[in-house]
Amino acid sequence: MNQENNLPIGLFDSGVGGLTVLSAMMRRMPNEQYVFLGDTARLPYGSKSSKTIVRYAVQAADLLLSQQIKMLVIACNTATAAALPVLQKNCPHIPVIGVIRPGARAACSASQNGRIGVIATASTIASGAYREAILELRPEAEVIGIPCPLFVPLAEEGWLDGPIAEAVAARYLEPLKSLHPDTLLLGCTHYPLLIRAIRTAVAPEMHIVDSAATTAEAAYARLEASSLLRNTAGRGHVRYFTTDDPAQFIRTGNLFLGTSIRKEDVSHVDL
Ligand code: DGL
Repeated sequence: MNQENNLPIGLFDSGVGGLTVLSAMMRRMPNEQYVFLGDTARLPYGSKSSKTIVRYAVQAADLLLSQQIKMLVIACNTATAAALPVLQKNCPHIPVIGVIRPGARAACSASQNGRIGVIATASTIASGAYREAILELRPEAEVIGIPCPLFVPLAEEGWLDGPIAEAVAARYLEPLKSLHPDTLLLGCTHYPLLIRAIRTAVAPEMHIVDSAATTAEAAYARLEASSLLRNTAGRGHVRYFTTDDPAQFIRTGNLFLGTSIRKEDVSHVDL
């Protein structure tokens, strides 16, 4: 095994939403080392112009590259939609993967009738990236995209269910009632946390999928194909960077990750 195998995998998101992807990766590859950056000071990305999102994504990737990573995972749909090709070009020496193709794959395999609802940030929906990725896999599919900008602040605030989250979900998801998709893709890494509220607003038989597990699978396959998997036994470790208050990052991050983030593993960084 060469030393590269021991390098960490880098992930970033605009906030703590990408921890849903980190969590799936840690389940799939428990002995890998990870570095996660949450750009909490500049969240949300989803309401910004693609020029600004690309600039933020390049800065986030540069910070992770300075940590000597062996792979970059863009754990943010908004940044994937705006910046995947730029980051792939900027980091030719390591695999760079996003969450949109894996998310599209999850939705296409779950859907029977080919009608797929996609909920995401305004910027992701406007980019058409999900429609394109889904139609590439299933050209006959019908894609219904709905921007849900209030879901991100609700998730960051920890208001995951209850009357307010349910009312917001009901209002956003109303159009799905007449269009009858059988699958709803959570096209934002923050949304899996709101699953209970989302579930109350859609038909009970709706398949609800997200990109976390399929992204972890895609990352595993890329590392395996490049002989870059870490084959040291034992549990891996995660280091976290946040661009805003570490205490707030830990508070909300714990909700997303489902385990406790240790204070000594979190550092503040300015990008
Ligand atoms: N979590 C990000 C995503 O997957 C979006 C949150 C934001 O708007 O910053 O798109």
